[in-house]
Amino acid sequence: MDTITIPTAADMHIHLRQGSLMNMVTPYVAEGGVSICYVMPNLQPTVSTTEQALAYKAELEALAPKVTFYMSLYLGPSLTPEEIRKAAKAGVRGVKSYPRGVTTNSESGIESYDIYYPVFKAMEEEGMVLNLHGEIPSDHEKNVCVMNAEEKFLGHLKQIHTDFPKLKIILEHATTEAAVNMVKSLGDTVGCTITVHHLQLVVDDWAGKCHNFCKPVAKFPSDRAALRKVIKEGHPRFFLGTDSAPHPSHKKEGPEACAGVFTTPLVLPYLATILESFDALDQLRGFACDFGRAFYEVKDEKWVGEVKLVRTNKDFNTPETYAFGGEGVDGESGKVVPFMAGKALAWKIASIN
Ligand code: DOR
Ligand code: ZN
Repeated sequence: MDTITIPTAADMHIHLRQGSLMNMVTPYVAEGGVSICYVMPNLQPTVSTTEQALAYKAELEALAPKVTFYMSLYLGPSLTPEEIRKAAKAGVRGVKSYPRGVTTNSESGIESYDIYYPVFKAMEEEGMVLNLHGEIPSDHEKNVCVMNAEEKFLGHLKQIHTDFPKLKIILEHATTEAAVNMVKSLGDTVGCTITVHHLQLVVDDWAGKCHNFCKPVAKFPSDRAALRKVIKEGHPRFFLGTDSAPHPSHKKEGPEACAGVFTTPLVLPYLATILESFDALDQLRGFACDFGRAFYEVKDEKWVGEVKLVRTNKDFNTPETYAFGGEGVDGESGKVVPFMAGKALAWKIASIN
């Protein structure tokens, strides 16, 4: 098989940033073969109100007019049940929860879920989705660190699902066998996104290699095997959410050591290459196109195209960098090093119609 034709994909977890970085990244959504994406709200300041979400959406639509942007709000103390109802009416699709301090712009993240139960109740009634960054903060006294932070979070997922069984909840960017098992064990209202990079990386690939560092960190080979297995099974509650998270290279290489892997421009070529490496190419369409749309009950997509992927002779390489800025938007400029920079990919996009 040397060609694959699928509908344009659904990326249900993406960071599109703001300012000059947003200007560079956003047009690549459609170029990477994606026509609908679910946009993360961890900007500065965070996207916490309906007005902010709509203003951000308008900026993104101006940069990528064919793409459908599903917007989210940042869970924090200022978010009220009233704001949830207003947001739902305006088409905002969900709310993202970041535990405090675990990743980029999570300083105003949450410390306990109980106080948000009135918000969750309103979300359940309005059909909004709760997106969970599933890690607890490191606590060395209690032997909690990045390697077990996800596993130790899973009790929160189970508790929220038990208390709000009709609320759609997504465990975002799962990285562990324990997470896969937990999501499988819960009801149909619980879904799970898996990134492209977590299907490829294990801990050895990021320790000392800043461009593969992301949160949650890639774990053991057995964890990666569990992520691959659930995709091979074609489990419909596990779907693509790339967590593509561009940072200027100097902020990943420098003392900030920003977490995030940038995959947006080549998401389908990466995914086809990686799925084929573990004999799951037949799941590309379900995982990248169908299951995410079904979970979000997408009915209002502006455009769905057809993507044709063709096999390369391993003569198609990921760019080393993507430059941004220099157009005077916010004075920021630099370059972003993408996932698998400079590496050959087995598949590339031939056309998108
Ligand atoms: O690696 C990550 N980068 N994980 C996150 O949860 C946030 C993201 C970002 O915004 O940079
Ligand atoms: Zn993310």
